Amino acid sequence: SVYSVSALILAYLCGSIPTAVWLGQAFYGIDVREYGSGNAGATNTFRVLGKKAGIPVMLIDILKGFTATNLAFFLPLSAIGSVHSVGFTNYQLALGITAVMGHLFPIFAGFRGGKGVATLCGMVLAIHLQAALLCVVVFIIVLLITRYVSLSSIIAGFTYLIGVTFVFQVHVRSVIIYGMCICVLILVTHQKNIERLLKGKESKVNLFKKKTT
Ligand code: G3P
Repeated sequence: SVYSVSALILAYLCGSIPTAVWLGQAFYGIDVREYGSGNAGATNTFRVLGKKAGIPVMLIDILKGFTATNLAFFLPLSAIGSVHSVGFTNYQLALGITAVMGHLFPIFAGFRGGKGVATLCGMVLAIHLQAALLCVVVFIIVLLITRYVSLSSIIAGFTYLIGVTFVFQVHVRSVIIYGMCICVLILVTHQKNIERLLKGKESKVNLFKKKTT
């Protein structure tokens, strides 16, 4: 329907908000894509500009995925059935992934965006809170142990698939398929990171900034 197409366009535009680029330009006069990993995401903002910039970017990028996914609540229910139906969940998934595509290929920043991890996190928070929390916990544990955000993101992505399939046993085929798509997507967006990880050249984050000289 007209409503569902408009909601998908809105989801794309919402995901397209290039938080890292705009915040860096507005407050620091730099485009974070020219530094560090070159990625327009929370991690690289943190790396280049510190936590005062990185944390807001992370929160806004999570909010983008969360908001876009929840656009499903504004649709006429006649089109998708009840809020508890599989149709509704499918629509949430479609909106969330569309927002992630916006984040990856933002119309407002020359289609060069981020890797979609925070936006995916927002989407999953909106769809399955417990699975999302499990992913966040795993992400934090891996990050504390390894200091690699990329590795933490990849493992958190797979945790989502394992979570919905085996831990929470969501017996909805589309949820499992989307879970698999998320794994593939994260592997694709993190190709360079994986290469660096394998070579031992990936940069670690300094979580509790203590100057190492
Ligand atoms: O959120 C993206 C993160 O997993 C990796 O970012 O900048 O280290 O490539 P970056």
